[in-house]
Amino acid sequence: MTATLTAWSVRRYGAPDMLAPVSRPIPTPGPGEVLIRIRASAVSRADGMMRAGTPRFARLFLGLRRPRQNLVGTCLSGDVVAVGDSVTRFAVGDAVFGEAGLSFGANASHICLSKNAVLMPKPASLSHEEAAVMCDGPLTSLNFLREVAELRAGQKVLILGASGSLGSAAVQIAAVMGAEVTGTCSARNAGMVAALGAGRVIDYMTEDFTAGSDRYDVIYDTLGVSSFAEAKGSLVRSGRYVCPVLGLGILGAMVRTAIAGTRKARFSATGMLKPDVLRLMLGTLIELADDGKLAPVIDRVYPLANLVEAHVHVETGHKRGNVVVV
Ligand SMILES: NC(=O)c1ccc[n+]([C@@H]2O[C@H](COP(=O)([O-])OP(=O)(O)OC[C@H]3O[C@@H](n4cnc5c(N)ncnc54)[C@H](OP(=O)(O)O)[C@@H]3O)[C@@H](O)[C@H]2O)c1
Repeated sequence: MTATLTAWSVRRYGAPDMLAPVSRPIPTPGPGEVLIRIRASAVSRADGMMRAGTPRFARLFLGLRRPRQNLVGTCLSGDVVAVGDSVTRFAVGDAVFGEAGLSFGANASHICLSKNAVLMPKPASLSHEEAAVMCDGPLTSLNFLREVAELRAGQKVLILGASGSLGSAAVQIAAVMGAEVTGTCSARNAGMVAALGAGRVIDYMTEDFTAGSDRYDVIYDTLGVSSFAEAKGSLVRSGRYVCPVLGLGILGAMVRTAIAGTRKARFSATGMLKPDVLRLMLGTLIELADDGKLAPVIDRVYPLANLVEAHVHVETGHKRGNVVVV
């Protein structure tokens, strides 16, 4: 009898109930591939957007009429169960974590990835659940704070959406970088955001940061809840507004501020960076985790069989940190 894997597919863009489980034969890894038994995988906001095909212009990359790759899930952690002939970096039994990239298929029991994929040895300091989300919030926020915003020690950073996946990682990373951190969240998450390293917390439901007199070197809008136009009055003269949520607003502001003005708006698609660049950043994050300075926040853990329920929860926009299926 052929051994089978369980995965989740989406054949048409739409709501969480468009997701359907599928069974397939477990592949034999090619010469340069690694077969992984997945122990945990993330269910992120980006996964929800890819399932829904939003924003619509993202379909240029995902598939115009229907998803080009019909499997879902990007970030994972698991154990290597077989390797191809030319693989030397990994061996059977290694615990690893990483991302499937644009071929997707991480919300599954098994996956075959290239030895050159964004795949790293899992440190013992992280559980599989924690390692599974490292390529979402932590990797994105390290890229945005260190590379895109060029945050420096002693600078003031405002993190909008500090209780989300990107935000909860960003607060920890910015604090380690020696920045003075302010985070926005609702009252129910204020204690958590302060404990993660924010010196000041603004309740977004009762206080508008643009109305205050504070000026920041960097505003990191993890949710796209503001805009460069609204935020620029709260930036110092050479301040940067950085936002990971793809939209015409941030792209337009990036182009305009590249040409004129001292305050800059910037966007980056972290997942599109070269795998060797991302692996280096993950190396930094592993060091932080090993030193006890970074611990991903896990909101809920669902069985893989309940992926639809996990997507519904993520879609509320009120998760605290990360959601994982195991
Ligand atoms: N460009 C890239 O490289 C890249 C990579 C990864 C992700 N992304 C994008 O990044 C975005 C953020 O994802 P995420 O997973 O971090 O979000 P998330 O975890 O879903 O954010 C949810 C959190 O945001 C809080 N929140 C809701 N409205 C808020 C507001 N107006 N102000 C402040 N906080 C608010 C919620 O708190 P309450 O429940 O208390 O309201 C909740 O804790 C997504 O759009 C994703 O697609 C981009």
